[in-house]
Amino acid sequence: MTDFVLAIDQGTTGSTVALMDGRGRIRASVNYEFPQHFPQPGWVEHAPADIWQSVQKGISAVLRKRVCKASDIVAIGITNQRETALLWDRDSGEALNNAIVWQCRRTTDFCENLKSAGHEKMVRRKAGLVLDPYFSASKFRWLLNNTRGIAKNLRAGKVAAGTVDSYLIWQLSGGKAHVTDVSNASRTSLMDLKRCDWDSELLDLFEVPKDILPQVVPSSAVLAHTRGVKGLPDGIPIAGVAGDQQAALFGQACFTAGDAKCTFGTGSFILMNTGSERLLSRSGLLTTLAWQLGEGGKPVYALEGGAFVCGAAVQWLRDQMQIIRKASEIEALAREVEDHGGVEFVPALTGLGAPHWAPDARGMLSGLTRGTTRGHIARATLDAMALQNADILLAMERDLGKRMKPLRVDGGAAANNLLMQIQANVLGRKLIRPQVIETTVAGACYLAGLGVGLWSGTGEIRKIWQAEQEFRVGMTPHRRRQRFASWQKALERTLL
Ligand code: G3P
Repeated sequence: MTDFVLAIDQGTTGSTVALMDGRGRIRASVNYEFPQHFPQPGWVEHAPADIWQSVQKGISAVLRKRVCKASDIVAIGITNQRETALLWDRDSGEALNNAIVWQCRRTTDFCENLKSAGHEKMVRRKAGLVLDPYFSASKFRWLLNNTRGIAKNLRAGKVAAGTVDSYLIWQLSGGKAHVTDVSNASRTSLMDLKRCDWDSELLDLFEVPKDILPQVVPSSAVLAHTRGVKGLPDGIPIAGVAGDQQAALFGQACFTAGDAKCTFGTGSFILMNTGSERLLSRSGLLTTLAWQLGEGGKPVYALEGGAFVCGAAVQWLRDQMQIIRKASEIEALAREVEDHGGVEFVPALTGLGAPHWAPDARGMLSGLTRGTTRGHIARATLDAMALQNADILLAMERDLGKRMKPLRVDGGAAANNLLMQIQANVLGRKLIRPQVIETTVAGACYLAGLGVGLWSGTGEIRKIWQAEQEFRVGMTPHRRRQRFASWQKALERTLL
């Protein structure tokens, strides 16, 4: 018999449930997609019951793979799409409304008003974030103002609020625990980064009552126990929780200040560990909590830049444009052409995130001619994914005043060798791809395993992490500048 950790990675388009053994090997993994709702242009919602069902289905399916018995699971780790906000009933556990997804732009006007009233400086100083509809605070406010019967439920003390981690822990613990970890809390815009707790000035600004929010807890510690979950014994410790990007930073063993990773998921997110320093960006990046290991553990911070649409651009080509049937076809299609042929794609399909913060920006395809083929569009999409990251990395280097270390890459699209080579070329930096590219899941497992003492510390995890392939720069600085300038020109047009 051996010990196993079960990880739940609740992402934007699907939920992955995986099992890792005590040697750090992912032995089984399943994924279930769930419906996305777009009730108005720019709005994105999830039905919380769909999220929970996809997780339950995942738990049953991964156990059916019979790599271990449910009783071999010594800890559960949770990682999740961040910022997505929801309210549920404390008695029934049922959601009071659909969840407002991180990509949703419905609170743009409210955030703009706060900005015009001069509140951004305080928000940046305390929460480390800009004023943008991306973060949970304005979404909670919207739900509190627009959910049927909310006033009565609030008076009765029945309303629980939280991000997806918090909702899942509530469900997994049979309604016993209402908690969120520091990394998720740092994405709400309601937490003071320094104290790692809710801040009254921020709560007042966004009109969110403190008593509906979860308790803020460390990312690795026993936080709750399973109760009444189909297929799982009661009493398994939930011992690791982190937002998916922070979990990926952990899963990439980026434990030292200066270590950085880029995850290619629905969006793409570059995070750099800054240790105990809360580095405030002057270039449009965010300061965020990476993790806190154990009760009383020192918070570790990170500098972050995220592009909202990365893999989602490929999904858009598949589902809306229908120029590919499967996402994996993009690489072969892009290889059919020598280069982008002058086509530029700015995938601002849900506005622009770091470093521009333009919630109203719309996507753009330009440079089309009668000679433009599906191949050029596929290639322009891969280029755009990489160029957005280059834009963010350059902003990071401006903040740091120096060059960064080689970037570790992960996430589904990191398997695409052409994309990785384009990324190394337009960044002008070496990339390192690890053997395990599902680092989000791995990070959640490591946090949970550490939380129950399955591994002794980060030193042991550093030994589990193994590089698989490096991608070296294969473009001259002159050509890189030209390529970047051409894309920047298109980008500027979406910002007008
Ligand atoms: O901040 C949003 C991020 O957490 C979403 O991640 O993996 O669903 O693209 P992903």
